[in-house]
Amino acid sequence: MSTDKKIYQPNPAFAKHAAINSMDAYWKLQNKAIEDYEGFWKKYADEKIDWLSGYDKVLDESDAPFYKWFTEGRLNVSNQCIDRHLADKAHKTAILFEGDRGDVEEITYALLSLRVNKMANLLRHEFNVKKGDRVVLYMPMIPEAAYAMLACARIGAIHSIVFGGFSAEALKDRIEDAEAKIVITADGAYRKGKPYMLKQVVDSALEEGGESIEAVLVVKRNNEEINWVEGRDHNYNELITSQHAECPFEAMDSEDPLFLLYTSGSTGKPKGVQHSTAGYILWAQMTMEWVFDVKGDDIFWCTADIGWITGHTYIIYGPLAAGTTTVMFEGVPTYPDAGRAWKMVQDHKITQFYTAPTAIRVLHKMGEDEPKKYDLSSLKVLGTVGEPIDPPAWKWYYETVGNSNCAIVDTWWQTETGGHMISPLPGATPIKPGCATFALPGIMAEVLDYQGETKNDGGLLCITKPWPAMIRNIWGDPDRYVSAYFGDVSKNGTPIYFSGDGARVDEDGYITIVGRVDDVINVSGHRMGTAEIEAAVKKDDHVAEVAVVSRPHDIKGESIFIYIVLKEGHINKDIKNHINELLANEIGNIAKADHIIEVPGLPKTRSGKIMRRILRSIAKGEEITQDISTLEDPSIVEQIITSAREA
Ligand code: WT7
Repeated sequence: MSTDKKIYQPNPAFAKHAAINSMDAYWKLQNKAIEDYEGFWKKYADEKIDWLSGYDKVLDESDAPFYKWFTEGRLNVSNQCIDRHLADKAHKTAILFEGDRGDVEEITYALLSLRVNKMANLLRHEFNVKKGDRVVLYMPMIPEAAYAMLACARIGAIHSIVFGGFSAEALKDRIEDAEAKIVITADGAYRKGKPYMLKQVVDSALEEGGESIEAVLVVKRNNEEINWVEGRDHNYNELITSQHAECPFEAMDSEDPLFLLYTSGSTGKPKGVQHSTAGYILWAQMTMEWVFDVKGDDIFWCTADIGWITGHTYIIYGPLAAGTTTVMFEGVPTYPDAGRAWKMVQDHKITQFYTAPTAIRVLHKMGEDEPKKYDLSSLKVLGTVGEPIDPPAWKWYYETVGNSNCAIVDTWWQTETGGHMISPLPGATPIKPGCATFALPGIMAEVLDYQGETKNDGGLLCITKPWPAMIRNIWGDPDRYVSAYFGDVSKNGTPIYFSGDGARVDEDGYITIVGRVDDVINVSGHRMGTAEIEAAVKKDDHVAEVAVVSRPHDIKGESIFIYIVLKEGHINKDIKNHINELLANEIGNIAKADHIIEVPGLPKTRSGKIMRRILRSIAKGEEITQDISTLEDPSIVEQIITSAREA
């Protein structure tokens, strides 16, 4: 990906105080993990976790690939993130909230404790939420979302956050799959200076189904007029005031599920990725300390939404477990202008800034010199996540935002990995732009072929050993867990975790992520399965056949490109609009297509399999180099190329 051959060394002044301060230090740790894997993890589990009672085994592989970590240990994540900090950090800001309209609230660890305890009591006593119950959150980026997550963790309920951009249909599916007991939502919130509404989406979802839901708890944020279902809907702001200020936490087992988070795969409906308690929180905290190097009075800002794994691990759990100050922002970084993010960095003296390449490209495009208008000297580490970062975006981020002083940590990981897996260490790793560099200490990443042989010039990115923060299961579908992640690649007879990404390793051992090799599309860092999109398009009565691929996009990274075969007639504006409406309703606005083209047929093998690779090449405008002689009708390719050109 990178054409810039320059290697960027860590800032020596920064490295001096960094948690991992040289490549020697990195290799020392990684070699320790290679030599004594369990001993390596034991050290950190003992050092970092506030155990209520100790574990017996570090790693239990007896039921592989259902790995268990720190078996029989007891802990509570809200204790790890709040209570244990109260002795010395009660007055430190835990959450620094900035609203869309510039309103700021500093929530200390003591205040966070009070609010989480009250919310936990509310859930436990008013709604009878018990350990193991599922709670769906459909929330804007407001502090109450954080309280709700931590309150669930406190009483042992399993939260499942549904991103606020998902449609009622998508919300309903997730509620039903998890058989959730209650939904926590808000009337709405503010975005670009205007109120927007969320509660009505919950209403529609529950009109269609979601029978398991007993109650809807509504936080009032923008106080807009909303529909109210008596008996079902409850006002958080009223109920919370009378809750008791102390709520004893549950002693959770290391392996009890902490949360579910639905994500798209290459086939079927979204999967409920199930994370554990101990392994997850351990790695969330460790990666904050290693990759972002948080310490002292650092102010950490991750711009993700809590509806994605990045928001879970790096807005809430990781920063709070590490006892740092985490910034939570309701708005968008381009409102009221392209300087908003930089103004926030200046105002709050932010030390680590973590965002997605798509956001960097937007901010670069909208305001190339904008960062120079602000004092960004507080910044020490810049991070990116979600997709490969292209050299122009990298260079601007490094030079203009970071003033050539800050390391850029290009962090590769997934919903399923829980936390960072491959990333530079800001005080140690010489950086090649566009390259995620090395697996973190304790993580065993290899690029292999399907037989498990090393394939450094381009292969499948695999993790060859279980790690504490890994996915534990797909909710309600253990067979799919095994086949989706351990079904493709084996090494010496043992099935190993395959990420779905392609990668290569260069002569210096640097890993570069190439992108998904399965049927997953990444639009602005949002992951969607072609299968889900195709299922939605098929609901249009005109459509006989459909195939969905991605096409590279300047800002979004990838965009959605749809080929359709019509039953009769020809494509027109109405059909295109209807298809996009279906996508918005079935999935959400993020699933709308940039291109919908009509073709006379799809390229299929004689066994009827659609050759998506050919369609991908055509969408990109690339020449077809694949062998098309095995197609049932090779002439179709020329016709598709012509249609694509005309579209
Ligand atoms: C997919 C996971 C992990 C939080 C955000 C997305 C892509 C992620 C990088 C990176 C290149 C990346 C991969 C991965 N991805 N980080 N630094 N460089 N690609 O989480 O929705 O689970 O998506 O995002 O394709 O498989 P997710």
